[in-house]
Amino acid sequence: MRSTLPLLALWLIAFSVVSASCSSPAPTSTSAPASTAVSNADTDIHSFARPAEARVTHVALDLKADFDAKRLSGTAKLTLDRRPDVSQIVLDTRDLTIEQVADPSGQKLAFALAPPDPILGRALTVVLPAGTSEIAVTYQTSPTAEALQWLDPAQTAGKKRPYLYSQGQAILTRTWIPTQDSPGIRQTYSARIVAPDGLRAVMSAEQLTPDGVATEGGRAFEFRLTHPIPPYLIAIAVGDIAFRANGPRTGVYAEGPVVDAAAGEFADLEKMVAAAEALLGPYRWGRYDVLVLPPSFPFGGMENPRLTFATPTVIAGDRSLVSLVAHELAHSWSGNLVTNATWSDFWLNEGVTSYVELRIMEALYGPGRAAMLEVIARSELQNEITRVGGPGSPDTILHVDLKGRNPDDGATTIPYDKGAALLRLVEHTVGRERFDAYLKGYLDRHAFRSITTATFLSDLRSNLIRGDEALEKTLKLDEWVYRPGLPDNATIPHSDELARVEQDAKAFAAGAQASSFNTANWTTQEWQHFLESLPKTMTPAQLEGLDRTFTLTSRGNSEVLFAWLRVAIRNRYEPAMPALERFLTSQGRRKFLRPLYEDLTATDWGKPVAKKIYATARPLYHAVSTGTLDPIVR
Ligand code: BES
Ligand code: ZN
Repeated sequence: MRSTLPLLALWLIAFSVVSASCSSPAPTSTSAPASTAVSNADTDIHSFARPAEARVTHVALDLKADFDAKRLSGTAKLTLDRRPDVSQIVLDTRDLTIEQVADPSGQKLAFALAPPDPILGRALTVVLPAGTSEIAVTYQTSPTAEALQWLDPAQTAGKKRPYLYSQGQAILTRTWIPTQDSPGIRQTYSARIVAPDGLRAVMSAEQLTPDGVATEGGRAFEFRLTHPIPPYLIAIAVGDIAFRANGPRTGVYAEGPVVDAAAGEFADLEKMVAAAEALLGPYRWGRYDVLVLPPSFPFGGMENPRLTFATPTVIAGDRSLVSLVAHELAHSWSGNLVTNATWSDFWLNEGVTSYVELRIMEALYGPGRAAMLEVIARSELQNEITRVGGPGSPDTILHVDLKGRNPDDGATTIPYDKGAALLRLVEHTVGRERFDAYLKGYLDRHAFRSITTATFLSDLRSNLIRGDEALEKTLKLDEWVYRPGLPDNATIPHSDELARVEQDAKAFAAGAQASSFNTANWTTQEWQHFLESLPKTMTPAQLEGLDRTFTLTSRGNSEVLFAWLRVAIRNRYEPAMPALERFLTSQGRRKFLRPLYEDLTATDWGKPVAKKIYATARPLYHAVSTGTLDPIVR
């Protein structure tokens, strides 16, 4: 009774439909959307989807992880909310092999893949017979799928078993799941993942079978997330992964050799969730666990729901870098609960989160620690403004223009630190009590929604400013959000401790001996700031003095070592070069790699050094990092 048209005819229909939609940008629907199909008023230029016509509401994955072929294969069943009068749905894909698309009765549906766009991938258009609201896409991923990194045993801590993990943000989920990959199109998901014996699968979802169930070809793990999330938050890891509970609703996953150190580093997790709740309202996702990944993970952290993914470089042994976890936890509200509708609104995710991160750190470790972090963030912001072209550069605008660009281009520290500075200004201007009440209300009003910058501003105006013209004038919101540079009404963070180390750096530059400073109780942040405050060029004797007195080259703290290695490269301090090579070949965090490779390639002597190290290190890095580094080093 289903379509009596021969398949060929459907193919023709599909192709004509697709070529029409390829030749021009996706038309914005002129007819009113059906009441059920929620429309995303401000279109996402980084997705082919047309959610006003038909949108995905649930993704059910059934995938097998094949480590030999480096492929995930199986089906994604998509539940749809469609307008009854439309006859197709458009999905996002990239580097996927689509084998077939079928309706729930198994009837094959016609589909077509548009030619690839270098940034967005290929639109997958599926013909929808009347009444069909579920489709099953049978597919496999490519071994080079950008979201996925397949690690050989040698690239793991345990060295015995392989490892797989995903990174979806910003537009990489489409390289492993054929769905509508837009942050404005929220979806619930479930999954059944078959992994080889002895490996465990974890996801950004509730675990229904924590130990897996024996099945043909390995063990099957089942998951479900009943909260609708943007698809960039669907995440998976498969490996020889152990777990340590930290409290009733928190814990740490990591490879066996790392898990105890990780659990120790994050001993304050339970307290952190409580501090965040006091500030932001109830934690709505059930558990909060952290997965410590192998060293190639390209980010510091990634806020996958219920399961933050984190770099092992955060394990310092003294909990001095846990603000990273405060940051990812804060995203459980700003980012995962209230999400940027498009990547131009990315600052709503990261700016609010960076502000909240400081507030959580203040609540847990006191205003002194928070002030140090804020001062460091502000000096990073000033450096970043310079790096992207100075205070007039359009890339310093919070609501950034990404037309024709990869959203990754917008992932500078501007949305983080300029965004946080805006919230700090509002807090200072209206007072903490009033601001905190507003922040909670904002998160509540937009919970499980994706919103634009314009919606944020209008919420702030309706619920906080409320027509107070003097306040409106003081804040200069439009300048903050739509104009470049850091407005002159930004608050100026201050830390006594960091002011002191700045003085020390000055004294050192003027000839003082390294041994004359009292560094015994310096924190990681003081070391970082001291190193960043040193003069651009120093004499060999000064560098040797620093290194001998403070054993900087052999530091294990990744942030301190990173700051020192930048000093070393700038001054061509040869004794640090073996440590530099070790650092570049033993971890893949882009935030560390980019400046170091950039500093090296900026010099004649460093260019060949960078090329040589990169040739060895590149296979260890995730595609996110090589995507940034290839144009710099190669
Ligand atoms: N969501 C980001 C990571 C991200 C941003 C991935 C853009 C892909 C595109 C995450 O919350 C983050 O900001 N991580 C930071 C650490 C944080 C403490 C500033 C990082 O990885 O450096
Ligand atoms: Zn973030």
